[in-house]
This record gives sequence, structure tokens and C-alpha cells, in this order.
Amino acid sequence: MEKHFAVIGNPIGHSYSPGMHNAGYKSLGIDAQYHRFQVPPDRLAEAVNGLCALGFSGWNVTLPHKETIIPHLDTLTPQAKRAGAVNTVKIVDGEKIGHNTDGDGFICSIESELQEFADKKAVVLGAGGASKGIALALAAKGMRVHILNRTPEKASELVRILDSKGGRGSFGEFKPGDWLKDVDLLVQTTSLGLRGEPFPFALEGICPKALAVDIIVNAQETSFLQEAKKLGCRVLDGTGMLLHQGALAWEFWLGGQAPIEVMRKGLQDQMQQRERL
Ligand SMILES: NC(=O)c1ccc[n+]([C@@H]2O[C@H](COP(=O)([O-])OP(=O)(O)OC[C@H]3O[C@@H](n4cnc5c(N)ncnc54)[C@H](OP(=O)(O)O)[C@@H]3O)[C@@H](O)[C@H]2O)c1
Repeated sequence: MEKHFAVIGNPIGHSYSPGMHNAGYKSLGIDAQYHRFQVPPDRLAEAVNGLCALGFSGWNVTLPHKETIIPHLDTLTPQAKRAGAVNTVKIVDGEKIGHNTDGDGFICSIESELQEFADKKAVVLGAGGASKGIALALAAKGMRVHILNRTPEKASELVRILDSKGGRGSFGEFKPGDWLKDVDLLVQTTSLGLRGEPFPFALEGICPKALAVDIIVNAQETSFLQEAKKLGCRVLDGTGMLLHQGALAWEFWLGGQAPIEVMRKGLQDQMQQRERL
């Protein structure tokens, strides 16, 4: 019987997940379809009931529902509990299981560039939903995590959560500082750059051994990555994180190993198509 999966969010037109998952199903001859549904916040409960009634096997969850979906679910995996957010739901015998693959997807996406995590220093720019999943995953790998955010109260709250889970967190102002000198990993998780806007401060003085990652998924390199590259850092954009969180969701739903290279190609094809529009 054909299986159905989806991503729900608001807005959702920008999502590359259908191209990535459907390419994977096709390559392995899996009888499944991945859809994309726009769900406004006040219709979330109806959407969850509707997806269950229609026999969906699972779905991904994106902004703004990653936290608000939790009361509509039956159980959470340890990864979802750790993040306090859900990006993947699986239906098993009518039970709605919430999971989170964002943090581990991020880790998988940088492992080829950063082999040692323990005791190294990560600076995370931003303290929104994506930052939280990433910061908690980095702390779980033993990294010291320094958070910089425009709204300091959100950075301090994230550090409180990190520390309550055994991490070693600190926070500071969203501006250049001494932290640039000894950073091993710099992760840009704010939405700055999503629409091509320039990154607001210089990275002059950054340790050139640092790995700089901007989790924005865009065919054009962000100004943050352009600057980090100019200063000698290794750089990665957000497509790796998107790919790996998708592959981990696939494996949670279907078992076995996701066809990662086919999914990467599906994702790239969809990005190129969007570029041409
Ligand atoms: N690659 C992937 O798989 C992946 C996955 C998830 C998200 N993302 C991307 O990550 C970005 C953030 O997503 P999110 O879910 O974390 O969003 P979010 O929860 O809305 O958080 C947005 C963050 O950006 C900061 N910010 C927004 N405008 C700013 C400005 N003008 N100056 C300084 N800081 C600003 C916010 O700071 P305040 O707290 O001060 O408002 C907050 O820290 C988006 O671009 C999204 O597309 C990528």
C-alpha cells in the first residue's frame, strides 16, 4: 500500500524536502509520496487529526510548529525531549511519536570537517529554534558553547537550558569580541541572509582554523560565508544539515539506510529549479 509523508509549516512554499524525499523513494522503488502542506498556527490541531485520519505514516514539522505540536503528540523520543522541539512525527499503531533530527543532522553535516568535538569551543549566533537544537547537540558532544543573540534574554535562557542538561554554556552580545580569536566552530543560525541581506558585523581577527557554518539554505553564498572564506576559514552552508536531518527522518520512518547521495541530488535539483524561476 502506498505510504504518505509530508512537511507542514507556515509558510511552506520554500521547502526543498519533497524533492529530496521523493527522489529517494523513486531510486529504491518505495511506493511512497512526500507532500508539502501549509498549516496556519490556529489550524494545527485539525491538521494533525487530518493527517492521522488520512493514514499518513509520518510527517516533518517546520516553523512555526516545532514546539506547539508537542501537546498534540502521544510520546517523545529522547532527542525530541532534549531539544524541547519536534521536527519529525511517526505514526505507529495510531500512536503519534515526536522525534527531532535537527541537532543530530547538524552534527552529521559537519563531521567531515570537525572530527574532535570534546572541549572545543563553539560560538552559536542566534538563539531561536534552530540554535537551540544545534547548541544542545554540540553540548552533548562535549563542546563549550557560547551563544550570541540580538535579544540577550533569549541567549541567557538557552544557556540555562544547556547548563541544566550538563552542558557548559555562556552568552554575550551579538557583536565581534575576544571570542573570535579562539573559536573552533562558528555557527550562524539567525535568519539574517535568508533574503540576501548582509551580515551586520565583520569577522576580522577570527581564528583561521575555525569552521564557519551558515545554516541558511540558499543557492547563493551568504555574505557571512563569503567573509569567513575571505579570512581563511573552512565554510559550509545549510544544505548539509537539511540533507542529514531529512535522511535521519527517513530512517526513523522506514528503517534501513537512507539513499543519501540520491537525496542530495534531489535537493540540489530542486534548488537549481528554484534559481531558474
Ligand atoms: N539548514 C537547515 O536544515 C535549517 C533548519 C532550521 C532552520 N534553518 C534556518 O535557520 C534560520 C533560523 O531559523 P529558526 O527556526 O531558528 O528561526 P527563529 O526561531 O525565528 O530564530 C531567528 C533568530 O534570528 C535572529 N534574528 C532575526 N533577525 C535578526 C536581525 N535583524 N539581527 C540579528 N538577529 C536576528 C533572532 O534573534 P532575536 O531572538 O533577537 O529575535 C533569532 O535568534 C532560518 O534562516 C532558517 O531557514 C535551517
